[in-house]
Amino acid sequence: MALLPILYYPDPKLYKVAKPVAVVDARIQTLVADMLFTMYEAKGIGLAATQVDVHERLIVIDTSEERDQPLVLINPELTWKSEATHLNEEGCLSVPGVYDDVMRHDAVHVTALDETGVSRTIKADGILAVCVQHEMDHLLGKVFVEYLSPLKRNRIKTKMQKLQREELR
Ligand code: NI
Repeated sequence: MALLPILYYPDPKLYKVAKPVAVVDARIQTLVADMLFTMYEAKGIGLAATQVDVHERLIVIDTSEERDQPLVLINPELTWKSEATHLNEEGCLSVPGVYDDVMRHDAVHVTALDETGVSRTIKADGILAVCVQHEMDHLLGKVFVEYLSPLKRNRIKTKMQKLQREELR
């Protein structure tokens, strides 16, 4: 398993729209294993392929307390969303140290292929529903800070650019 480099906001590659996975083969299974490894190492609860500069519709999630319930969603499609929405505090491995409130549907149903290529429907609520919506946004080239006010977003952009300049020194 390999640790994959994560793209940091505002890297323009995070705005790319992912294409569907054509076939769930050995290449995809290796990518899934590497993404899960990278997500667990980074102590994240979700990771989209976009964040590791692979622009295909694939996300991995684990919102369990024990970190032992990996969920792999390939070519995920939202088939239902609750009318009810709520603000939830979100963070993102591509925007380390930044947490803010985003409005999300309380519950969603998602149909996706798993890592063996089998189609399944996931009925998500609570933190899992928030995470699924956050990760699916990544596949559309959308980072959660895009929901915040331009003022907040610019502050975050400046902070992240400063951090990355310091890291490169
Ligand atoms: Ni994220």
